[in-house]
Amino acid sequence: MTSTKIPNALAIDINRAAAAPVGEQIYASVRQAIVDGRLVPGARLPSGRDLAAQLGVARGTVRVVYDRLTAENLVFGAGPAGTRVCAQLPLSATHDEVPLDGPLAVFHRPFSSAPQPFQMGVPAHDAFPAKVWARMRTRAVRADAAAYATYADPRGEPALREQIAALLAVSRQLQCHPDQIIVTSGYRQGLMLVLTALHAHGRTAWLEEPGYPLARRALELADIAIAPVPVDEQGLRVADGIVSAPDALLALVSPSQQAPLGMPLSAARRHALLDWATSTGAWIIEDDYLGDLQLEGRATAALAAGDGAERVIHMGTFSKSMSPALGLGFVVAPRAIAERLIEVAAILCPAPNRTTQLAVTEFVADGHFLRHLRQMKALYTERRNHALACITPFLPGTRAAGLGLIAPLPPSTDANAVVGMARAQGLAPEALSKWYLQSSHAQHGLLLSVTNLRPDNLEAACATLADIVGLH
Ligand SMILES: Cc1ncc(COP(=O)(O)O)c(C=O)c1O
Repeated sequence: MTSTKIPNALAIDINRAAAAPVGEQIYASVRQAIVDGRLVPGARLPSGRDLAAQLGVARGTVRVVYDRLTAENLVFGAGPAGTRVCAQLPLSATHDEVPLDGPLAVFHRPFSSAPQPFQMGVPAHDAFPAKVWARMRTRAVRADAAAYATYADPRGEPALREQIAALLAVSRQLQCHPDQIIVTSGYRQGLMLVLTALHAHGRTAWLEEPGYPLARRALELADIAIAPVPVDEQGLRVADGIVSAPDALLALVSPSQQAPLGMPLSAARRHALLDWATSTGAWIIEDDYLGDLQLEGRATAALAAGDGAERVIHMGTFSKSMSPALGLGFVVAPRAIAERLIEVAAILCPAPNRTTQLAVTEFVADGHFLRHLRQMKALYTERRNHALACITPFLPGTRAAGLGLIAPLPPSTDANAVVGMARAQGLAPEALSKWYLQSSHAQHGLLLSVTNLRPDNLEAACATLADIVGLH
């Protein structure tokens, strides 16, 4: 019997001490040889038996590699003519294209890396209850693996929706039935769900000025006209919205703690907003991204709580209270549109990842969630006070807002230049102007989250920022 030698072009180096399994290493070598063109179209690969013998691995290992390459349309079985490289490689096999970076310009990068000092929108990495969470996730993975191979409830796990309803009653004074709750992958998905269900395309939405940049982009992408409505010390200036866009379909607001300025919507403005929505048939989207994670005093009740709130669609998220890596949030559907929202969710964006849902259910039910929130409030208050003391000397007028600080810059200082230099030094402040639709209206300053200012990095981070500001 003849045996095929490994062609020279197919350099396979197996490192048995490496973390990657041997099969993975063989696959990567063969794939690379094909993608690089060292193995040309039509080239014959050694038989599985020969390759296994020459590499000293089981035949099954090579068979799995060849099956995988076949499934990826890189090789094909030519019967007696052996396994050969395909004539036309799939486009994704070649990696020499320019990466598509542009479309995600509004996001902080890199993704899935440790949060940087001052980075907005992320909780304290060092204070995440990793051990308890890992335990609950492990249990959830087991429970999920033992579950029936069937469709899960597209609204989210009933037990999680019950826990969320109970949490909302306690911490947001919001009474709702668990059936009104739709579990989402976060605020962004909730927004998409509502915009779709309400046929908002071509209509107008009020947006706080300043307001959450991703919400602004969501409206633009959905072809919704934006009416920027200014914010003052009482929150959204409802009367201005009524003048500029009286027949808007939607108002996007963050009533509990305005994002990013931090003030609650005053009682008078709440009434005015609810009255406007009731009288015109508009819908209010309540972005409750911080929930009751308020550092000073008690958070006000949700706008969706109580009488007159039938036009409020409440949205919560676990991104700030736990971690954005969970990818979990929820919408509380007003009864009048609940069926429609649920149908759209079930068909276009069913509740995500059952394992995460089960783990969060246990985390909340066992009291870990409320305990964690209490601990985070104390921790963030301490970090904020320390940061205020360090930053005020070089940026007077710095004040607390939400889980961070707003630091006014001198008029001659270029906020974007400061942000650029800070990024190069591993810090992540944001220019306040990025949160405005009309940059000519913007307050001049920086947004500085305090969540990841730890005792071991806080003073150095503030000192570096002081140096950068001093240069401009
Ligand atoms: C104002 C505001 N709303 C909502 C969110 C949460 O978004 P998601 O639940 O999609 O992570 C954030 C996160 O940074 C935010 O800043």
